[in-house]
Amino acid sequence: MRLVSPNFSDIAEPNIEMKKFPDGDNYTCLPEIKDGEVYLFHRLYPEQDSALMQAFFMLNTLKRSGIKATLVSPYLPYSRQDKIFKKGEPLSAEIVCDLLSHSGAARLITVDCHFLKKEGTFKYGNLEIVNLSAKKLLVDYAKKLVGEIEVISPDMGANYLVAEFGGKSMKKVRGEYEKGEAAYRKIEKVEMDFDISGRNVLILDDMISTGGTMIKAIENVKKGGAKKVLCAATHGFFLKDSLQKLKNLCDYVFVTDSIPSAVSSVSLKDLLFSHTR
Ligand code: R5P
Repeated sequence: MRLVSPNFSDIAEPNIEMKKFPDGDNYTCLPEIKDGEVYLFHRLYPEQDSALMQAFFMLNTLKRSGIKATLVSPYLPYSRQDKIFKKGEPLSAEIVCDLLSHSGAARLITVDCHFLKKEGTFKYGNLEIVNLSAKKLLVDYAKKLVGEIEVISPDMGANYLVAEFGGKSMKKVRGEYEKGEAAYRKIEKVEMDFDISGRNVLILDDMISTGGTMIKAIENVKKGGAKKVLCAATHGFFLKDSLQKLKNLCDYVFVTDSIPSAVSSVSLKDLLFSHTR
């Protein structure tokens, strides 16, 4: 059986009640469940901390009823905090996975999870994760737009997204944390040491957040003489005015509907539904 959160109403009719108490605390209420196993479709972004609490509550309800639950969420928040860069930091990615497992998730189905960097089934912390990839959907969409393309990634971490298409990767170097309230490590450089002149180029990443990585990558391929430039990712946050900046810089910008936006041209529905029932 599929349980569908209101934040997934674009792919199926929601059947979960979700509200806020007057003080802002989350309230969730699941429908009656007859099967011994469910797929819980619930996005964990935007408002990731609140969405995680809602997930914990729903998973706990299922656990107490003895129901096996698979959480289906294409984007896993905190997945970029899987390494300790500076002494004193937590392993946030592992904590989130442990909490999901502890709350009752038998497994998580997600898409292009940042720290896994390949498709398949993995154990991370105490959680079993089925990591799907949107790479083929995104590349097929790009080919429909402009025909043959070179598929490249803006850093080595996203190389797994482009390797099967014969793609190469740029090298990104991040510096120390910047001063100020935002925990952000500045991008010092993104280097490209291969030729793309005269070709249509798709720059593919797992996510676009501030757009800083993509902007530097687009500048590189334009300098390198690319014909048409497309930029795409599985997860598009498009913080601040980054979407407009990217649109101004390249020919096409698109992402999946992992996080719905004005440029979510590629649907994950069939991919997610083919792994659930
Ligand atoms: C990091 O390694 C990720 O794969 C993305 O490249 C990164 O998160 C994109 O962030 P931003 O858009 O802020 O440069």
